[in-house]
Amino acid sequence: MNEKQMVGEKAVEYIKDGMVVGLGTGSTAYYTITKLGELVRNGFNIKGIPTSEQTAALAVEQGITLVDFKDVNQIDVAIDGADEFDADLNLIKGGGGALLREKIIANAASIFIVIADSSKGAKKLGAFPLPVEIVTFGADMTTKKIAELGCEPKLRLTGNQPFITDNGNYILDCDFKHIESPKEMELQLNKIPGVVENGLFVNMADRLITIENGELVEKT
Ligand code: 5RP
Repeated sequence: MNEKQMVGEKAVEYIKDGMVVGLGTGSTAYYTITKLGELVRNGFNIKGIPTSEQTAALAVEQGITLVDFKDVNQIDVAIDGADEFDADLNLIKGGGGALLREKIIANAASIFIVIADSSKGAKKLGAFPLPVEIVTFGADMTTKKIAELGCEPKLRLTGNQPFITDNGNYILDCDFKHIESPKEMELQLNKIPGVVENGLFVNMADRLITIENGELVEKT
């Protein structure tokens, strides 16, 4: 079993019958969602709130009932991957372009569980270019303002066209090399008009499931 499958399936142990579950996006969350599908086929009643259209399609394929925010009072547990995590469980997310919905759902969840293979651990965040979602209007100006914070922003492309998020926006991948203060940077970026959200998830993760020396480990 590969590391993504190990951590993705382990997280499902936190899901109980009747729960509303935030469903993450990416190749690690894939294993969580397929395992949840197995539970549903065995009679579990869970409801999912997806963090992307891609995840919504996978969840439906797996027989997981999807619900909207207006239909639930709370999200019990959200499970999602990460592009980087540090020792304080701060994260960079958004490699799959779903960071806005991921942050809304992680923030709304009573418990946010992060699943990440061993390659995602970092002493300092920032080696992975930070995804920042921006509106298309004024994108060149927004890009310049973001660059003033000390990074090299690159417009994410699909082929030779801009990548468009599920929310109709662009993603800038911002190479900071390292981010000294993730909280400060998260706030600075979100102050720039045109920035919708950025992929720094600071003090949000309640639990990290990862691999050390080939073994599953959990950190809180
Ligand atoms: C998507 C994300 C993903 O959780 C992150 O990119 C990790 O992906 P993977 O599990 O495929 O390595 O933030 O926006």
